Amino acid sequence: MSTTVWRDLGTPESPSENFIDLLVDGVQVSVPEGTSVLRAAAEAGLSIPKLCATESLEAFGSCRLCLVEIEGRRGYPASCTTPAESGMVIRTQTDKLAKIRREVMELYISDHPLDCLTCSANGDCELQDMAGVVGLRDVRYGMSGENHLEAKKDESNPYFTFDASKCIVCSRCVRACEETQGTFALTIDGRGFGSTVSAGMKESFLESECVSCGACVSACPTATLMEKSVIEQGVPERSVKTTCAYCGVGCSFKAEVKGNDVVRMVPDADGKANRGHSCVKGRFAFGYATHKDRITKPMIRNKITDPWKEVSWEEAVSYAASQFKNIQKKYGKSAVGGITSSRCTNEETYLVQKLIRAAFGNNNVDTCARVCHSPTGYGLKTTMGESAGTQDFDSVMHTDVAIVIGANPTDGHPVFASRLKKRLRQGAKLIVVDPRKIDLVDGPHVKASHHLKLMPGTNVAIINSLAHVIYTEKLHDIEFIKERCDSNEFDKWVSFIGQDRNSPEELESVTGVPAADLREAARLYANCKNGAIYYGLGVTEHSQGSTMVLGIANLAMLTGNLGRAGVGVNPLRGQNNVQGACDMGSFPHELPGYRHLSDSVTRELFEREWNVSISPEPGFRIPNMLDAAHSDEFMGIYVQGEDIAQSDPNTQHVTSALEAMECVVVQDIFLNETAKYAHVILPGASFLEKDGTFTNAERRISRIRKVMEPLAGKADWEATVMLSNALGYPMDYTHPSQIMDEIARLTPTFTGVSYEKLDEGSIQWPCNDATPDGTPIMHTSEFVIGKGRFVITEYVPTSERTTRKFPLILTTGRILSQYNVGAQTRRTENVAWHDEDRLEIHPSDAELRGVKTDDWVGIRSRSGETVLRAYVTDRVQPGVVYTTFHFPESGANVITTDNSDWATNCPEFKVTAVQVEPVTQPTEWQKQFQQFNEQQLDLLARATESERV
Ligand code: SF4
Ligand code: SF4
Ligand code: SF4
Ligand code: FES
Repeated sequence: MSTTVWRDLGTPESPSENFIDLLVDGVQVSVPEGTSVLRAAAEAGLSIPKLCATESLEAFGSCRLCLVEIEGRRGYPASCTTPAESGMVIRTQTDKLAKIRREVMELYISDHPLDCLTCSANGDCELQDMAGVVGLRDVRYGMSGENHLEAKKDESNPYFTFDASKCIVCSRCVRACEETQGTFALTIDGRGFGSTVSAGMKESFLESECVSCGACVSACPTATLMEKSVIEQGVPERSVKTTCAYCGVGCSFKAEVKGNDVVRMVPDADGKANRGHSCVKGRFAFGYATHKDRITKPMIRNKITDPWKEVSWEEAVSYAASQFKNIQKKYGKSAVGGITSSRCTNEETYLVQKLIRAAFGNNNVDTCARVCHSPTGYGLKTTMGESAGTQDFDSVMHTDVAIVIGANPTDGHPVFASRLKKRLRQGAKLIVVDPRKIDLVDGPHVKASHHLKLMPGTNVAIINSLAHVIYTEKLHDIEFIKERCDSNEFDKWVSFIGQDRNSPEELESVTGVPAADLREAARLYANCKNGAIYYGLGVTEHSQGSTMVLGIANLAMLTGNLGRAGVGVNPLRGQNNVQGACDMGSFPHELPGYRHLSDSVTRELFEREWNVSISPEPGFRIPNMLDAAHSDEFMGIYVQGEDIAQSDPNTQHVTSALEAMECVVVQDIFLNETAKYAHVILPGASFLEKDGTFTNAERRISRIRKVMEPLAGKADWEATVMLSNALGYPMDYTHPSQIMDEIARLTPTFTGVSYEKLDEGSIQWPCNDATPDGTPIMHTSEFVIGKGRFVITEYVPTSERTTRKFPLILTTGRILSQYNVGAQTRRTENVAWHDEDRLEIHPSDAELRGVKTDDWVGIRSRSGETVLRAYVTDRVQPGVVYTTFHFPESGANVITTDNSDWATNCPEFKVTAVQVEPVTQPTEWQKQFQQFNEQQLDLLARATESERV
């Protein structure tokens, strides 16, 4: 549990390295130049009353409560907007100041409801605190004059209310929305006494541009903007520091608790990934953890058409173990395997792969990261020697030109997007490479210098032509290449990239991007001081996903944009622990730390520690497991926290493979789509119910801490330990810290990691004897691999082509309010923003087909067909349609193809040739899905404790 109490020092820290000395109330204090007098006093341990100032925002100087006296100056300047100067002598507590402050407070309170004792913020209100601090006892002005006490409450946002009667118009909310979040949804309307806070054009919060990040709620010093959960449940009593379980940004939070209930999640100002910010998911969408759909009892059944039977943990685990053993006896050792989850902790993931290698005795382990970022691991390891991004998120504040490729940070990685937007408002330039006009292309106070609107599937052609321009126009960093890269490889690469066929002019007809625009973008990136590349699944989920990652690494090496702040190659990981799941040895060919099974030294290290022999033969990847199930070679699977029936391509192929298996064991918090095909369900624990660690996109290992007891009585790692013991391979961990100690013993990049160290703060791996405090930026003096390797990246068009029959390209992505397969966010109030997946279609394509917004349309590919409602928009270009995939009934993966990345099998989710036509009813698949879903929910409802299988 967190014990440190955060103190708001009033204004942001000054970055200056020059220090100045001044005297505040007789106390000598030394602060960086540019520090406000308010902050200087706070650093000297003195508190000046304040209302409109807070450490996370630039000072505004509106409340006049923080006035001070400065020797040699007339009047009473506001300390929050006055910079400290060398030699200043300041008094913060005089009779005159006390009188002025009381008068100021009196004016505020005279227009404020006097309901402190019954107010939901009682005890957690800065106005109330300040009234006490300035010693206000009486209010001389009555409430009978003009006031705002009858102002209407806006309760439209599902998570917080806006009670205008309590607003002191300090504008902290407005500034938080602008400076921290970068959405500019709020304004102060009117002037003087008539001024009020307003969301957009006098709209409700829900109808406005507000994205419900909660920054304004955190900034509000009164009960005006207030979490509904606090209003309903009361002010929390204790807090526990933990990490968001949604996306790869890995925001740090304080889970604030009353009794056993989480009342609110407060972004942690000390959090190094988020610096006190959050998005709607981590901040508010935690209610799924106690949703009535949670599975809280282990269950078993013989056939998937049988009702579930609730049984004890022991019975469920021994049933699963005996089924797995029987399958191995009948079909051979490699007929079983498992899938680890990027949503579970490092420790849990490590244990599952250990169970498979040690208890199953094969290497049939894969992870859901297969379907998102496996090309990142391959591409970055090949070129630089490490399968991870090169920077920390703070690095973006030093970037001059950012290239965002195939990522939509405002929706997928919102807190990082806010940092990037802040940097862009400071003057950095942006290049967006995306088929779709994402919000960053043209948002409030942010505009991309170039939007390279490519046709889906032509990434490699774009990256090659960017490199071609930089090389042929001699804009590359010769010194960096000479010193840091392998010259033979570079020479070979140059003879490829310099060819005319890689020029933007030659490739324009392939990519659809005007050559002149591409040339300008290449020059902008090559000529800047610090250029950084951020990318997402729009890079990796292609048949050339790995080639594109290699191309990105080439581009960064070519321009010397590696090894310092502000630059680098930065994969934006999808789920919270994608990085960790890959680090922990979840792939069938690698042991933890990305060490190949064929390396006998590594294998022997693990064999000694685990006391088993490990097969040097790589096992099945997920697609191989599914194929093998169809030929009776793979008959049992243990799936922890992953939903392949919704998230993997070619849904019918996945579900028929699951149906063919004799034992499907699913460990999850809900009856997800895969669990509907299961024979054993081991109830999962949410991130609030266990201890462990997640590793975010920056390689940052952060603790999650148990806030409440597991609803089903066991954390996921405990269930894996039980299963392993039942299979005959003993595990005896009693706490996840012991699992981390084992990881540290066996993995060179983790040798310095321990829970003790993590309790002091998060750490970016590598963390070992050479880098005991972790590694915020990688490859600073040399690459992990030694010399950086340029790799030839020949553009090979995907075999998925448009034809007259399938004239449009479907690409997919996600939306801010929903997360991945939606199992968590669909069970929260986030459905207020997005309650169904829609098909975005360009007006010209829509008109040609007679389609209007809200019409039902059939989307047919070579693999299958589904039906969604249309949304006509020019965010997509002609010839391209787009959808999200958060609802299983949408069947987005019914239509995606079997194509996958040549190196890693990562599916080509981003390119499917389709036809779109108006329809009147769901597809056959959707009808069957509905029927099967109802059947499974009924079988779940009929679960009984008494009967045995
Ligand atoms: S809503 Fe809160 S933060 Fe915004 S102006 Fe009113 S009191 Fe200040
Ligand atoms: S919740 Fe976030 S986006 Fe909405 S008004 Fe507040 S700061 Fe702005
Ligand atoms: S940005 Fe990602 S990690 Fe941060 S709160 Fe949102 S979902 Fe959670
Ligand atoms: S805190 Fe300085 S004027 Fe409000």
